[in-house]
Amino acid sequence: MTYRVRSAQQRRAEIQARATAMGIDDAFISDLVETFYGRIRAHERLGPIFAKTIDDWNEHLPKMKDFWSSVALTTGRYSGKPVPAHQKLTGVAKEDFSLWLGVFETTVRDLAPTPDVVPYFMERAERIAESLKLAMFTLPGLKKSRET
Ligand code: HEM
Repeated sequence: MTYRVRSAQQRRAEIQARATAMGIDDAFISDLVETFYGRIRAHERLGPIFAKTIDDWNEHLPKMKDFWSSVALTTGRYSGKPVPAHQKLTGVAKEDFSLWLGVFETTVRDLAPTPDVVPYFMERAERIAESLKLAMFTLPGLKKSRET
């Protein structure tokens, strides 16, 4: 049996080609991020949670465009640390992630250049949401139970 070994560079090129073929580019990501956070800021429950922490949306929005560019197009533009940024938030419940994902899905559906873009973004958003929830709600409890 022969295995096809692909370099990280080849793998990245394939992901980028697939995303580009679906119509995902910087302009789409920019539109998605602007529209999504416009809706989040107007959201009855999530709006105040973001407003409490974010003073300068002109700083947050470019960061989120870099984040989605890295996630969807593997450009490596984002180099922040989402886990500690969320662990320090107060007043966030596990259920808020379902609200977040609901707004995100509606926005992706509204703007997607092709239908495949919806599952492409949702798979990634859901995976990241799970790991953030684990870091925010499950790991601190495990750590505490080990200490007592
Ligand atoms: C209920 C769900 C969520 C809430 C309330 C929330 C809230 C926030 C807030 C307030 C910040 C700003 C933190 C700061 O500047 O100090 C932030 C940053 C961020 N969020 Fe979320 N978030 C949620 C879910 C998500 C999800 C599901 C993703 C990814 C799919 C995500 C990705 C990010 C990223 C990448 C940053 C920037 C972190 C950094 O480098 O500073 N968030 N979030």
